[in-house]
Amino acid sequence: MAMVKIVVVALLALVCYAKADSKVICYYDHRSNFREGMGKFDIPFLEPALQVCTHLIYGYAGINPDNYKMVPLNEAFDVNKDNYRHITELKRRFPGLRVLLSVGGGNDISGEGQERNLVYRTVLESVDHRLTFINSAKDLVKHYGFDGLDLAWEFPETKPKKIRSSFKQFFVNLKHKIVGESVVDDKAEEHKEQFTALVREIRNSFRHDGLLLSMSVLPNVNSTVYYDPRSLAPHLDFVSLRNFDFYTPHRNPKEADYTAPLYELLDRKADENGDYQVRYWLQNAFPANKLIYGISTYGRTWRMTEDSGLTGVPPFYTEGPGEEGPYTKEVGLLAFPEICSKIATPKEIQAGYLGKLRKINDPTKRFEYWNTTDVSKRFGTYAYRLPKDDKEGIWVSFEDPDTVTSKASYVKAKGLGGVAIVDLTLDDFRGLCTGDKYPILRAAKFGL
Ligand SMILES: *[C@@H]1O[C@H](CO)[C@@H](O)[C@H](O)[C@H]1NC(C)=O
Ligand SMILES: *[C@@H]1O[C@H](CO)[C@@H](O)[C@H](O)[C@H]1NC(C)=O
Repeated sequence: MAMVKIVVVALLALVCYAKADSKVICYYDHRSNFREGMGKFDIPFLEPALQVCTHLIYGYAGINPDNYKMVPLNEAFDVNKDNYRHITELKRRFPGLRVLLSVGGGNDISGEGQERNLVYRTVLESVDHRLTFINSAKDLVKHYGFDGLDLAWEFPETKPKKIRSSFKQFFVNLKHKIVGESVVDDKAEEHKEQFTALVREIRNSFRHDGLLLSMSVLPNVNSTVYYDPRSLAPHLDFVSLRNFDFYTPHRNPKEADYTAPLYELLDRKADENGDYQVRYWLQNAFPANKLIYGISTYGRTWRMTEDSGLTGVPPFYTEGPGEEGPYTKEVGLLAFPEICSKIATPKEIQAGYLGKLRKINDPTKRFEYWNTTDVSKRFGTYAYRLPKDDKEGIWVSFEDPDTVTSKASYVKAKGLGGVAIVDLTLDDFRGLCTGDKYPILRAAKFGL
C-alpha cells in the first residue's frame, strides 16, 4: 500500500514537473538598441521578461563569407561595447536562465538572386569549412559565456505564392514586379544531408563542455526540402518553428492575407499554417517535447486602396507594404505597441473611428478539428482603415494576447516543448498599451 502511495506521488510529481518544464524561448534582437525614441531597447528592459523566459537567445551572429568563421554581425556593439557579456551576465540575476547565441536569423543577408545567403550553403559543402565554422562558433560561445548555439540557418526561401486568379485583372502588366527573388537550389538534397552532418558534428564538439544546441526554422524555408527531423532529433535540445510570415508585404506585395494562421484556411495552400509545420516535424519522428511553437510580436501591414474592397476580409488586392511605424521604421512592419496605439477605443468607435483602425477579432466559433472542439482562434486578428480623403488605407495582420494564449493552449494540448517569442524587443516592453509590460510574452506563458 505504502509502495503504491509512493508510486502515485512520484507519478504526480512527474506530471507536474512536465508541465512546469515547458520552455519559453525568448529572442532578443540587438538591432533594437539602435531604434529611436520609445523603440530603443536597453538591457534593463529585459528584467520583467526574464522572470518568464527559460531561455534567452541573442540575435544574431553571422558567417564571414571569406573564411567561413562565425562572427559578430556588429562587432562595435556586440564585442567592443560588451553587449554579449552584458547579456550573458544576466545569468547571475536569473540563475535558471540559459543564454544562447544565434547565427543567421534572416539578418545576415548578403548577395542577390542565386548568391543570396550563399555562404550558408557553401559552408555545409566541405568537411573543412564545417570544422572552421564549428570551431569559431564554439570559441565565440564559450568566450562570452553563452550556454550554447542556436542555428537560424539561412536556407533559400520558397517562391512566393502566385496571385489568385480572381485578382489577375489588376496586374497583367505588373507580373515581372510581383515575382520575388527566388533561389533554385539544385543541391538541396545534398545540403539537407550536409546540414544533418553539421548538427551532428557540432553536438560532438559541444558534448565535452555541456553546451546546448538548438535550431530555428525560418519563415518560408521548406522543412521538407532542408530538414530531416528524424536524423536531427538526437543532436538537438530543441527546434523552434517560426510559424508566422506565411504572407508578408515584401513577398506578397499585391495580396494581403493572414500572416500566421494556426490552422489551414479555406482556399489557401495546405502548408501555410502553424499546425501543418508542427505535424511535419512530428510525423517525421521528431519528439514533441523538443518542438517549440514560434510566435511573432510584430504585425505585417499592407496598403489598402480603392481596389482593395470595403470589407477588410482577406485575401484582397493591395499595393504593397504599409507605411513604417514611428519606432521600428520599417515599411510593412509594426511592433505590437505601435499597433495597439492605432486601434480605435470604444469612444473613438462611437465618434466614427477618427482615423483609427477597426479591429476584427478572430471568430470564436467552436468547431470540430482533429476531434478537438475547443479550438477557436484559427486565423488571427486583423485591423484596418479604408483609404479616405488624404489618409492612406492600411491593413495589419497581428497577434494579440487572445490569439497568443490560444496558440499556447495548442502547444499544451499537443504536448509540445513550449513557445518561442520572436522577439522581446517588439513586444510592448514599456507597457504602453495597457500598462502591463510584455503582454504577448505573458499571454503565451499564461496559455501553457
Ligand atoms: C516543399 O517541398 C515539398 C517537397 O519538395 C513540396 O512538395 C512542397 O510543395 C514544398 N512547399 C512549398 C511551400 O514550396
Ligand atoms: C476521431 O473521431 C472519429 C469518429 O468519432 C474516430 O473514428 C477517430 O478514431 C477519432 N480520432 C482520434 C485521433 O481520436
